[in-house]
Amino acid sequence: MTQHTPSQTFIENLLSEMTLAEKIGQMTQPEKNSVKKGDIARFSLGSVLSGGGGNPTENNPRNWREMVLGFIEESQGSRLKIPLIYGVDAVHGHNNMFGATIFPHNIALGATRDTDLVRRIGRATALEVAATGVRWDFAPAVSIPYDIRWGRSFEGYSQDTQLVGQLAAAYIEGLRGESWNSPSSVLPSVKHFVADGATTFGSSRRISGDPNALQNDATLANAHVDASMQALLDLGAWQLDQGNSEIDEQTLREVHLPPYKRAIEAGALNIMTSYSSWNGVKMHGHDYLVNTVLKGEMGFEGFIVTDWEGIDQIDADYYTCVVKSINAGIDMVMVPFKYERFIETLTRAVEAGDVPLSRIDDAVRRILHTKHALGLFENQPLPELEVVGSRAHREIAREAVRKSQVLLKNEGVFPLSKNARVLLAGSAANDLGAQCGGWTISWMGGHGQITEGTNVLEAFKATLSRPELLTYSEDGTTDQRFEVGVVVIAEEPAAEGMGDRFELKLTDAHIQTIQNARAHCDKVAVLLFSGRPYVVTEHISGWDAFVASWLPGSEGQGIADVVFGDFPFTGKLGFHWPYSQQDLQLTPESKHLFKIGDGLTTLKTPVTI
Ligand code: GLC
Repeated sequence: MTQHTPSQTFIENLLSEMTLAEKIGQMTQPEKNSVKKGDIARFSLGSVLSGGGGNPTENNPRNWREMVLGFIEESQGSRLKIPLIYGVDAVHGHNNMFGATIFPHNIALGATRDTDLVRRIGRATALEVAATGVRWDFAPAVSIPYDIRWGRSFEGYSQDTQLVGQLAAAYIEGLRGESWNSPSSVLPSVKHFVADGATTFGSSRRISGDPNALQNDATLANAHVDASMQALLDLGAWQLDQGNSEIDEQTLREVHLPPYKRAIEAGALNIMTSYSSWNGVKMHGHDYLVNTVLKGEMGFEGFIVTDWEGIDQIDADYYTCVVKSINAGIDMVMVPFKYERFIETLTRAVEAGDVPLSRIDDAVRRILHTKHALGLFENQPLPELEVVGSRAHREIAREAVRKSQVLLKNEGVFPLSKNARVLLAGSAANDLGAQCGGWTISWMGGHGQITEGTNVLEAFKATLSRPELLTYSEDGTTDQRFEVGVVVIAEEPAAEGMGDRFELKLTDAHIQTIQNARAHCDKVAVLLFSGRPYVVTEHISGWDAFVASWLPGSEGQGIADVVFGDFPFTGKLGFHWPYSQQDLQLTPESKHLFKIGDGLTTLKTPVTI
C-alpha cells in the first residue's frame, strides 16, 4: 500500500472524483480573448493566458487584477472548483502591463554576473505579477543563443552554460520567495526545452516566406507591426526561430541541458517545450527528450506546457498532433484559439485507446500537484497593487541597468563631469520604447512613452549640474562646439522570429547621426541599445568610447549613474562580440572583436572638467 503525504492524498482523492472531461479541461490553456463566457466552468479549464500584449482594454494594474480575478472566479463555478492559474510572459518585469517596473532583458542581466540582483529582480517581478492575481510567469528563458541573428537572443542570459544556469536558478528562487505556497510566489516556466538557441540559419519553416502571413496567421495578425511582413522577411525574419537544432547529443547534454538541471534543483515545477526541432524531430513530440530524459533521467516532477499552438507544427493531421504530443509527455496544451477542438480531439484519442487514460491521469496529477504546491486551493491574500512600479522596485531595476552597461572602449571619455557641456544625440535617447525592446506593453514592443519610465534624455537632464549644459539633437546636427557628444543608437524592437536578421550592422541613420555629432565634439561616445552584439569593427576606430547598453528597460537613470561616475562601469560581456558578418554564429572558427568576460571599468573621478 503506497503511503501518501497529505497533499498526495488530497490530489489522489480529487483525481478520483474527476471525469475524463474535467481531466482534459485541466490540460487545456486558451488565450484570454478566445475563451467564451461560461466555458471555464463548463470545461473546468486549467489555465488561461495573456499572450504578448494580452492586456485589458484600458491597460492598468487595477484592470489587470479585475480581468485575472474574473477568470479565476469563473473556475469556482465548475463542479469541483479546481482553481484556474493565469499565465503571462513577465520576461523583464510584468512587462505587458502599463506602469510595471521594466527590468533589463536577460542579455543585460548576464552582463551583471550578479545572482543576488537577479534573485531580487525575480522577487520584485513576482510581487508585481501576483498583485494582479497572476501566479504563472513564462520565464526564465534558459536559451543559449549560438547564432545571434536569432531574434530571441536577448532572452538568453549568456552563451556560457554555467552562467545561464546560475542566473536562472536565482530568478526561480526570486519568483518563489520564501515558499511556493506563499501568496506572492509565482510559478516559473523554464523555456524553451531544449536547445531553442541552437537552430540552423534558414531551417525555420514557421512562415515559409509567406508575405501574407500577417493576414493569414491569427497569431501574427495580433503582432501589430508597422513594417510589412515582406519588409521583415527581406531583413531575415523567421530564418532561425522555431528551426532545427542540428547538434549531436553530447553537445545537447553539455551545452543546452544543464540549465534545466539547475532549474529543477532550484525547485522548478513547470517547463515549456520549444517550437524548434532536434535533428528533425519537433520538441513538442519528442518522446525521448521529454519522457525519457527530462521526466525520467532528470526526475522532473512538475508539468510540461507547450508553446503557443506548438503542437500544431508536429503534423499536418491535428489528431496525430494531439496523440503524439500527449504521448511524448506534454501535460498542458497552450491552445490559444481552438480549445474546444483540442478537447474534443483528445477525448476521441483517449476513447480510441490512442492515448492511455494513465497518461491523462499522470498529466493531471502533475498539474494538480503544482497548483496545490502554490497554495491555489487555499484562499490567499494578494499583494497590494501599490507594489507595481514602486520606488523600491525601480531602484532594483536602476541598479541592474548600472551593472549591465558594458564599457568596451574608453579613451578619455568616461566618467563625464556633471559640469561638462554635452551634446546628446540619437532618437533612441528620447525613446523609452527603444530602451525597453520587445515584450513590452505589446508583443513586439514599440516607440516613445509606451509606459512609465525615464529615458536617457531625462536622465542626463536630471544629472548634469545645470540643464543648460545639455543640448539634445535627434540627428546629431548642431552649430555649436562640445567637449563630448553621447550618441544613443538602437536596434528596432522586435520579438521572436520577427527579429531574426540576415546581418547585424548599423543603419545609415545610425552612422550619419554619429558623424554629425563627431563634427562638433572633441570626444564622441556611442551607446548601443540592442538585444545582441552588432558588428561595429569598421566604425569603432572613429569613436572615443563605446558602451553595450543592451535593452535597459524603464530605468534610464542607471545609465547616467555610470556615465557621470556616481558608480563605476562593471558590466562584462556574456556573449562573444562578432568581428564580421561571417562570425555571427558561434563556432570554433568564429572571430571576435571582444569576447565573453570583456568589459572595462572606470574610476569615480571625472575625466572631463
Ligand atoms: C510565444 C513564445 C513563448 C511565450 C508564449 C506565450 O510564442 O514562444 O516564449 O511564453 O508564446 O506568449
